[in-house]
Amino acid sequence: MEKKWWKNAVVYQCYPKSFQDSNEDGIGDIQGIIERLDYLQDLGIDVLWICPVYQSPMDDNGYDISDYYHVDESFGTDEDLDRLIGEAGKRGIRILMDLVVNHTSDEHVWFREALQDPGSEYADYYIFKEGVDGGPPNNWRSHFGGSAWEKAGDNRYYLHAFSKKQPDLNWENPKLREEIYKMINYWLDKGLGGFRIDAISNIKKNFQAVTFEPDGEDGMCFVGKGIANQAGIEVFLSELKERTFQPHNSMTVAEANVPEELLDHFIGENGFFSMVFDFSYADIDIPQTGEWYKPTNWTLQDLKRNMFHSQLETQKRGWGALYLENHDQPRSLNKYLPEGDINQYSTTMLASLFMLLRGTPFIYQGQEIGMSNILMDSMDDYNDPATKDQYQRAVNSGMSSEQAFELAGRRSRDNSRTPMQWSDEKNAGFSGAESTWLKVNKNYPEINVASELKNEDSVLNFYKKLIQLRKSGKYKNILTEGTFVPEETEDQNIIAYRRVSAEGEILAIHNYQNKESKMVLDGSGSWDKIFSNYGEMRTEGNHIILRAYEALALHCTDNCK
Ligand code: GLC
Ligand code: CA
Repeated sequence: MEKKWWKNAVVYQCYPKSFQDSNEDGIGDIQGIIERLDYLQDLGIDVLWICPVYQSPMDDNGYDISDYYHVDESFGTDEDLDRLIGEAGKRGIRILMDLVVNHTSDEHVWFREALQDPGSEYADYYIFKEGVDGGPPNNWRSHFGGSAWEKAGDNRYYLHAFSKKQPDLNWENPKLREEIYKMINYWLDKGLGGFRIDAISNIKKNFQAVTFEPDGEDGMCFVGKGIANQAGIEVFLSELKERTFQPHNSMTVAEANVPEELLDHFIGENGFFSMVFDFSYADIDIPQTGEWYKPTNWTLQDLKRNMFHSQLETQKRGWGALYLENHDQPRSLNKYLPEGDINQYSTTMLASLFMLLRGTPFIYQGQEIGMSNILMDSMDDYNDPATKDQYQRAVNSGMSSEQAFELAGRRSRDNSRTPMQWSDEKNAGFSGAESTWLKVNKNYPEINVASELKNEDSVLNFYKKLIQLRKSGKYKNILTEGTFVPEETEDQNIIAYRRVSAEGEILAIHNYQNKESKMVLDGSGSWDKIFSNYGEMRTEGNHIILRAYEALALHCTDNCK
């Protein structure tokens, strides 16, 4: 097997709960994914990342695992999962599972034992500390709001970086680490492609300070300050890799916002992971503390700078993972485009901007058909605990409930978790049930797979073409290996870059605005059009005329500067 097989892969992310329901209970399941494998094969992807399907009380939709070795009933059986791995394999698709090892569910047997008996060996699998002055051990605020400490006895507290039903594991304990490696190898031995690794930069905790500088009205400090990328984490991460991923030659993608000075350790030649997801342009619209009810006023220039910076820093060290969407983000159209500008051209322009970058692209379910955010009727329609927390914090900060609802909803993680839109049939073809676990977006009669398959100019067919370009034919190597080189443009609202390799050069041009523009093209070289989302390419002398939200890719056949 080629050592770095994932470099040429295109990954599709599936949120099982919302992908396809096969037994009419309104909840997506593994059998449903199997039924849609032909669609995925036809789309052209080679890796399928499925969000957690392990046993879970579903406080955080499966990111709270109560048994690492078994599939949750709502998703099907252990055999279903084996079948999925096998059926996907037959179609040339490898499965990435989600690895959640920063925390478990509070309903995991380890935690139950730990809670019941402070003297039990399992107590040291988690992080219990004494309270201070009648309060929690320190002033950390969890990702989902409120103190990151929950009381579990007289003056006994446990740490939870996320919800209180997700107690953090104690990686300092070698026994716990052994349990984790055993579990990972159990899954890898089944022939998985690898793992997407959840919240992994949080596994080393730093308890040096007792009180942290508050960063919010609540007097607390974001837990990330004390648990993200702390010194010493490299010891855990290299052991993890050596004991599990490395011997299996697995693909690993870490959810880890890594500071530049550490990037080498993460994705360098002997890095801990194959690649990492950085947050630099995905989170451009929210402050670093994650308070999304306080949106930032980002501009296109910020987006361009962050995107280029991320590309350049990543390629200096190794390989990157690309994404515009995932199950924690709202839909990219609503995030990256002005409201009135969402259309066929702008949507395909975003697709091109993303798919021609250097790195492995991750397409999130529904992104390939241009799904958009949902307008809920009330807070009761939301399922996501983080959305409810943001709403509450917005209200506490003095906002009206209408404004809080608007702001919490705009960024809600449920925007991307609504059921996949397959057709214009009942529940968008997702489920035959009376109602689905989360509402279906009302725009499904217009935006769905079945109708886009029939329309040659659809977003879906555009994605298919982009995937093909990366996977086969004469541009494959340039798009895989080619260096990313920013292209200067006079009009700052054009985002252009080159991909340059010994085999040739591709120039990708994106007119990121709702008006015509132009760009000088070096006259001495010869350029071939690979595609434009408008079809034809327009030129005038040595200028290319770019229409509103045009995406244009050119191949240099000779002497281009
Ligand atoms: C990651 C997941 C997110 C989850 C959190 C806690 O950020 O992507 O969905 O809520 O970890 O496990
Ligand atoms: Ca089901």
